[in-house]
Amino acid sequence: MNGLPLPDYEAAPVNPAVRLAALASTDMAGVEALIADRASSATAVIPAIAHHLLDAGGKRIRPLITVATARMLGYDGRGHLPLAAAVEFIHSATLLHDDVVDDSELRRGKQPANKVWGNPQSVLVGDFLFARAFMLMVDAGSMEALHVLSRAAAVIAEGEVRQLAAARKVATTRAEYMDIIAAKTAALFAASAQVSPILAGAPAEVEAAMEVYGRELGLAFQLVDDALDYGGIAVELGKNTGDDFREGKITLPVALALEAGGADERAFWVRTMADGRQSPDDFDRAVDILKSHGALDATLEAARGHAARAVDALDAAPDNVWSQSLAALAEFVVERAY
Ligand code: IPE
Ligand code: IPE
Ligand code: MG
Ligand code: MG
Repeated sequence: MNGLPLPDYEAAPVNPAVRLAALASTDMAGVEALIADRASSATAVIPAIAHHLLDAGGKRIRPLITVATARMLGYDGRGHLPLAAAVEFIHSATLLHDDVVDDSELRRGKQPANKVWGNPQSVLVGDFLFARAFMLMVDAGSMEALHVLSRAAAVIAEGEVRQLAAARKVATTRAEYMDIIAAKTAALFAASAQVSPILAGAPAEVEAAMEVYGRELGLAFQLVDDALDYGGIAVELGKNTGDDFREGKITLPVALALEAGGADERAFWVRTMADGRQSPDDFDRAVDILKSHGALDATLEAARGHAARAVDALDAAPDNVWSQSLAALAEFVVERAY
């Protein structure tokens, strides 16, 4: 396929994200080279902050989707490489900004850049990465792909602002929560899956199906991330659990528990999340309440539903090793929570 030296698929590691990375290793090496090249600047703090984040071992799921989608469709140009790098730059920029907004203590197993260099530096280097993402998109030479990715960048910012407005509001509904995660997370997944069909000149229905694949995968991904915030292991995640609780972010597990619980529990959520008055034992109590209502399981169940829709969307795509890997990736995103 496309003359790429494929690794021995059967012998590759079992984790589908790792297997997909192995399958796409030649392209991903090109993406990493572009990332390193475009993170450079004569202003020393910029590459220092950029590399602090970029070299800390993110999963690179979004650029992998862009690359795999291009290969799945038999695209034989090179435009998918700058687009994949642009996708990771947009993601990186949002993480730099997000850790300022969320006052996080841990990102990719390390201190977030803002804790090392300061909030202003992180925000400005995030802006630099956004700008470099736009230059990479222009390099790919597709106005339509530029349109899709730049719209996603705007939608992410809207999602983050909307989440800020919803914080500490225990009245946040499941529908409002889903709208927020569709914007802050699923939009970039959707764009990362949609741009390669555009480059490859795929039929409109294939492009639309891949947008659905990315969007549904993104929803599943954020649902799992939000469940893991109450039950994951910080060392494995490379970021702290309990951040959403501390920040009063009403994610699906809490929204479900609020629907199911009585007045006592409601008073607990109002005190801890709306009023932000928390004592050291409160996080454990929150986890107990969530578990008593099956709210974490229900969140993972919702994630499984979205992952299944992502897999279904691949029916419109060619059946080959790439689409099979994309299907396995969607399943793995949910399974990693167990
Ligand atoms: C983190 O994304 C932000 C969310 C949308 C939850 P990832 O989990 O893909 O982060 P990295 O890139 O692997 O660190
Ligand atoms: C990450 O969101 C940033 C975006 C999705 C734009 P979160 O705040 O939910 O994720 P983590 O837990 O910090 O990675
Ligand atoms: Mg956040
Ligand atoms: Mg965060």
